[in-house]
Amino acid sequence: MNRVSDQLPTSRAGASETNARGPATRDKTWTVLGLLKWTTDYFGRAGIDSARLDAEVLLAHALETERLRLYIDYEKPVLPEERDRYRDLVQRRAQERVPVSQLLGEREFWSLTFKVSSDVLTPRPETETLVEFALSKAPDTPVTGSPPPFRILDIGTGSGAIALSLASELPHAEITATDLSEPALQIAITNADHLHVRERIRFAEGDLFSPVASERFDLIVSNPPYVARADEESCPPELSHEPEMALFAGHDGLDVIRRLVAEAGDHVSPGGWLGIELSPEQVETVERELVQAGFVDVERRFDLASRARVIGARWPTK
Ligand SMILES: C[S@@+](CC[C@H](N)C(=O)[O-])C[C@H]1O[C@@H](n2cnc3c(N)ncnc32)[C@H](O)[C@@H]1O
Repeated sequence: MNRVSDQLPTSRAGASETNARGPATRDKTWTVLGLLKWTTDYFGRAGIDSARLDAEVLLAHALETERLRLYIDYEKPVLPEERDRYRDLVQRRAQERVPVSQLLGEREFWSLTFKVSSDVLTPRPETETLVEFALSKAPDTPVTGSPPPFRILDIGTGSGAIALSLASELPHAEITATDLSEPALQIAITNADHLHVRERIRFAEGDLFSPVASERFDLIVSNPPYVARADEESCPPELSHEPEMALFAGHDGLDVIRRLVAEAGDHVSPGGWLGIELSPEQVETVERELVQAGFVDVERRFDLASRARVIGARWPTK
């Protein structure tokens, strides 16, 4: 595929005619609609599935406007400096396959805005299934009195998507968020600052339960790496821009989940819950491992595509 700079015109030429400088000097100018059509076609040829949506999101970003505003501004000419900003984004999307979230530097999750970079996994919509599971296990906010705090642990917090969403919903919870990656934790802390929940979350670096060695929690949640190395070849090119340690976990993708399940019993309070996000193909294996480890009341939760995406299980009271 040719470089976009060879194609996306820098000079006045393109989709519709305007008469900005009077009848004597009729120039062709790129309009919003013209650019969207051109880019959708270009992205389509580059193999990007969400070609039109990506074109709209990136153009709105370059124009510093809302995506829906583009529909009103279809015939508006796009200035050369705006086109330059857009061209750079289009090029990185099509040629380097940088995900849109990283080009924008942010992603919406649980109706909150999270800063993202190549140091963290971009939060995925299916992870909201784990947030819903966690909320269903949290006690209702008391009207009076001061019950003991509900203690939550989020292992592998990444951008902080799960921990910060729970903090926004559960003002009385005591939340700990850990990650093996120091750069990821820094992003989670920045996000906690922006979302004004920093003082309510304890952040700790380390492998699985090592930062919380002798502690127990009422609820443990984790969206660990679970992509199988065996599937790496078939992964979309965008994944190469996210951290390996956020994605891959051994040949069958279960290396981290197996250790998590085996160690979790030492850290869940009696009657407390463990919730793990995983790939639908891993569900039966992980259910068996949870039962072998001593968990009870194993349950599945389904994502918007009706695929089993979260496994929950309770630690017995005795
Ligand atoms: C799939 S990402 C999930 C990020 C975030 N929780 C989310 O749902 O968007 C997995 C995260 O687990 C972290 N991680 C990987 N191995 C780990 C380990 N052994 N102990 C703690 N964290 C780990 C990675 O650095 C990454 O941030």
